[in-house]
Amino acid sequence: MDKFLIEGGIALKGDIRVGGAKNAILPAMAAALLLKDKISFDDVPQINDIKMMAHLMRIIGARVDHDNESLIIDGTNCSFYEAPYELVSKMRASIYVLGPLLARFGKALVSFPGGCAIGNRPVDLHLKAMERLGAKIDIEKGYIIAECDRLKGNDIVFDKSSVGATINTLMAAVTAKGKTRIFNAATEPEIEFIIDLLNQMGAKITGRNTTTLNIEGVEDLHSCTVPMIPDRIEAGTFLIAGAITNGDINVKNCVPEHLRSLCEKLTEAGVELEIGNDSIRVKGHSNIHSVNIITNPYPSFPTDLQAQFMSLMSIADGASFIEENIFPDRFMHVAELNRLDANIHLEKNVAVVKGVKRLSGAEVMATDLRASAALVLAGLAAEGTTTISRIYHIDRGYHQIEKKLQAVGARIERVLG
Ligand code: UD1
Repeated sequence: MDKFLIEGGIALKGDIRVGGAKNAILPAMAAALLLKDKISFDDVPQINDIKMMAHLMRIIGARVDHDNESLIIDGTNCSFYEAPYELVSKMRASIYVLGPLLARFGKALVSFPGGCAIGNRPVDLHLKAMERLGAKIDIEKGYIIAECDRLKGNDIVFDKSSVGATINTLMAAVTAKGKTRIFNAATEPEIEFIIDLLNQMGAKITGRNTTTLNIEGVEDLHSCTVPMIPDRIEAGTFLIAGAITNGDINVKNCVPEHLRSLCEKLTEAGVELEIGNDSIRVKGHSNIHSVNIITNPYPSFPTDLQAQFMSLMSIADGASFIEENIFPDRFMHVAELNRLDANIHLEKNVAVVKGVKRLSGAEVMATDLRASAALVLAGLAAEGTTTISRIYHIDRGYHQIEKKLQAVGARIERVLG
């Protein structure tokens, strides 16, 4: 298994370009199953989650070509409607095929996603929505077995704001008979992207950017092109890299509006930001102030940046409280950050981070995707050498992060194992 070796303490300086958003591309790939045609996407990074989703698409019968950053999916010959355990257990985004398979084949067999390193991640909202659209759902031997004639539009009220359930429901409802209304829909930028994509395919969805979505079912969809949105979490990770190393990084190809909550917190922490149209320049500060954060649905602070922000707070000038409200157990990085001499303790879903003067390099282990990013950031700031094992987690969601960081001066090396 590969490792990262990091020599910390260098102020990072220069430009970093962000790639297409993983959490937008994964559901977009599932949406391609709605088409008996080809669809292509640009700026699609070669990361492992996308490779795994491509594998699932091929199992279902789609042709997938991913060369450099261009991804072409041809769903013409899809004929299989199963997402097997081996894939779903490794990548929860596989659940996104449920809606499109039901819409296209009237049948879907999707392995039940289990728990994962960031805690219990139920899919009850996805299943209830499919039932509201007329599907019959059974759970047998760890599989969701869903069946329907043509789906029928209905009103769906979500108990919670869920990115995944909102997207799955949209994909199922666009070709359902009649009208669907989704209440308490999530409003993350990735949802807006999927709405734009589906509308370009010929769907009739209104209410974009609000928590009530109206969908008028259509008979047919067609191919289209939509520009990919940049990955706000990758961008946020690099902004924090600039802040934590007291550096000066220009993060290019990002949508500053998508990063508003992080930018506010970075400014409160004393970091200087220059916000452009599609870039943000971050200039660090030798005295990072402690700031509290609470993760909540967009536009609040994203759970996917909680771990990385905690690394920054671990060297702040006081105590900060980091409350996790999306995945209350998402704190596997705490013990690893403490191995680097951070001073963090947990009180239920709140991490109390007492800033220390400096972190010290040590051997740590990546436990999940964003936790690994947090460890890379902490390693960049720490004195001495940090070794991070199990970095396959980071390869799921960041394309060659070490190369992007090396280009701005970081001493980070991948040791092949
Ligand atoms: C979540 C993040 C999303 C991120 C993704 C990948 C939020 C709101 N969502 O999306 O931004 O891109 O992880 O890391 O930050 N829930 C249920 N039942 C369900 C579905 C969800 O109870 O059927 C709960 C979850 O446990 C969680 C909340 O709803 O507490 C929001 O989860 P959801 O947005 O669905 O998670 P993901 O789609 O995985």
